[in-house]
Amino acid sequence: MKKTFLMVMLVLVTQIISAQQSQQDVEKKIDDIIKQLTLKEKVDMCHAQSKFSSPGVPRLGIPEIWMSDGPHGVRGEINWDNWGYAGWTNDSITAFPALTCLASTFNPDLAHQYGVAVGEEARYRRKDILLGPGVNIYRTPLNGRNFEYMGEDPYLASIMVVPYVQGVQENGVAACVKHYALNNQEEWRGHINVNVDDRTLHEIYLPAFKAAVTKGHVWSVMGAYNKYNGQHASHHEILVNKILKGDWGFDGVLVTDWGSAHDTKEAAYNGLDIEMGTWTNGLTFSANFAYDNYFLANPFYEMLKSGEIEESVVDDKVRRILRLMFRTNMNMERGLGRINNKEHHEVARKVATEGIVLMKNENNFFPINPEKEMTIAVIGENATKMMTIGGGSSELKAQYEISPLEGIKLRFTKATILHSMGYSSGPSAYGRVIPPHINQDSLYAAAIETAKKADIVLFVGGLNKNHHQDCEGGDRLTFELPFNQNALLKDIIAVNPNVGMVMVSGNAVAMPWLKDVKAMIQTWYLGSDAGYAIADVLSGDVNPSGKLPFSFPAKLNDNPAHYYGELSYPGDSIDQYYKEGILVGYRWHDTKKIKPLFAFGHGLSYSNFELNNIKTDKSTYSAGQTMKVSCDVANVGSLDGAEVVQVYVGKVKSKVDRAIKELKGFDKVQVVANDKQTVNISIDIDDLAYYCTEKGGWELEKGQYIVYVGTASDQIKKKIKISVE
Ligand code: BGC
Repeated sequence: MKKTFLMVMLVLVTQIISAQQSQQDVEKKIDDIIKQLTLKEKVDMCHAQSKFSSPGVPRLGIPEIWMSDGPHGVRGEINWDNWGYAGWTNDSITAFPALTCLASTFNPDLAHQYGVAVGEEARYRRKDILLGPGVNIYRTPLNGRNFEYMGEDPYLASIMVVPYVQGVQENGVAACVKHYALNNQEEWRGHINVNVDDRTLHEIYLPAFKAAVTKGHVWSVMGAYNKYNGQHASHHEILVNKILKGDWGFDGVLVTDWGSAHDTKEAAYNGLDIEMGTWTNGLTFSANFAYDNYFLANPFYEMLKSGEIEESVVDDKVRRILRLMFRTNMNMERGLGRINNKEHHEVARKVATEGIVLMKNENNFFPINPEKEMTIAVIGENATKMMTIGGGSSELKAQYEISPLEGIKLRFTKATILHSMGYSSGPSAYGRVIPPHINQDSLYAAAIETAKKADIVLFVGGLNKNHHQDCEGGDRLTFELPFNQNALLKDIIAVNPNVGMVMVSGNAVAMPWLKDVKAMIQTWYLGSDAGYAIADVLSGDVNPSGKLPFSFPAKLNDNPAHYYGELSYPGDSIDQYYKEGILVGYRWHDTKKIKPLFAFGHGLSYSNFELNNIKTDKSTYSAGQTMKVSCDVANVGSLDGAEVVQVYVGKVKSKVDRAIKELKGFDKVQVVANDKQTVNISIDIDDLAYYCTEKGGWELEKGQYIVYVGTASDQIKKKIKISVE
């Protein structure tokens, strides 16, 4: 026993020493390379040479760096110098589900499989940096880009982002966690100055980035467009120098968002390493040789040459860039990647089916028996609209995308499937709305007639990837469902009450019809296998187990960012104030006792689960210790399924304002029907600390805490008092 232990230790120590040695070797090689580079070559490496690449040094055999969006698949090839698609015929890929869906799985193993698969596709497509994942916090349901992120909870996002990053990077492809930081809306994203208190910054908006850096060891980070405390986030003294590169020890490359640099000296001194762009200076569109006009191009070179900026500043950037290269395109051991293969499609479908959330299910309306002969009316534009197209930079050229209608037709072969669009939204375009040509009244009338003829109606609606929907470059203009869907639903329900809602969106929406539909699934954007995954769940082939990664407020003003009025969201175009502080999402709903329509962590199953024997291993803990929470999860239904045990902790009588409770641990467990499984969740007591502004660090308060164990933030089965001494 002792001998085996010693052997294991020896192997571990040898591995650590050899890793340290190889890191030292790399650093030495980097030193040698830096010595050989001219000033001009160094500066060139710090800025774009095309829309998605930065130059290497051909003289020394140093390759270019190639980047691609991200985060749900590898984007189609873009032209060298403009945003048009290059029209290649070999760049179609697997479209993976959007990150809200991944977050809804509450399954970190799947996040790893997702990362590995999308990383393999990036590698196959010869990309060195994949521009994702995005971990900006869900602050308002109007943010057009929420679908690209991992929800409202910093703990959930932190747990899910790490395996994604690791999975991508196992391929010798850098993940690029974005957008650092506080880019929580699209409106005025290029200049809005976010005012947020330190505690909120550290407790809510930074943890997922911190986890990506300190636990995921991410090799690159993308700065955000917005300002924070008067300075642009992409070259920020506090965000970058102090926190990212100082406190967290980030040793990788900070890339701008496209066109988010605004000042050469700030970019030089405040940690920006590579400037990528949309424009030359934020004002004019790129002209010939515009890349040389970037802040980190000729203006930087001139300041270095004149001695206004010391050469050590560019050397640090080049060192980081070369380090990234040794991890990626100068890593001779990385694999070749693969694309559109069976395994990737399986991962995409698994994430999709595990992320779908069963929101409501009156009298077991779902699943629908696929063996039954019946007429199903599939109504709504989203039944056929391609959702990998549009949405901004996350748009994909999927090799295929199975629509919900196709998936339903393929699975429900015994049923007669009718289809009617109901409404039309027009094609998706970046930054503008193109009105539809089809006559809306005819679509509306046809949908009602179709509904009348069916035994059941599946309304496949929601938002889409058009401007002002779930799309980059603009926020939603209203919390309501667009394209007259509320009225259409009401009229459909009047002629056929058997309506099941299939909500395709990346955001919460108002649901005045909710009580009148029999059932509802929230599907998110599911990528290539969307239709298959939806049919998997509707038919009961897969028992749903997704949980909401953000709260659905009943009305917009119940969301804290909106509660505080325009200065809070969207701001006055110059400034905005995060007046709700730490009370984001369920923290707000719980603490202010505002009941959401659907709570964070909510998600039903076709089975029923009971939590029994819920306990903590002790009742008193001290700093540095781990609390073990355990419980039995019994599947008391007739179908195999999965449940997510969620552990929240709240401080009783805190010195500072606190949310009633915060998620601190979870575990998803598969349980076969009529069986039970024991779940063990470990929570570091130090993670109960709050960020103390005066101290500028984390403070673990002594005293009483309550541990809340349940299956959703509003489904707490047991509260246990513990104390920290
Ligand atoms: C987006 C980034 C994206 C970049 C490149 C920007 O507009 O904000 O997320 O990676 O474009 O397409």
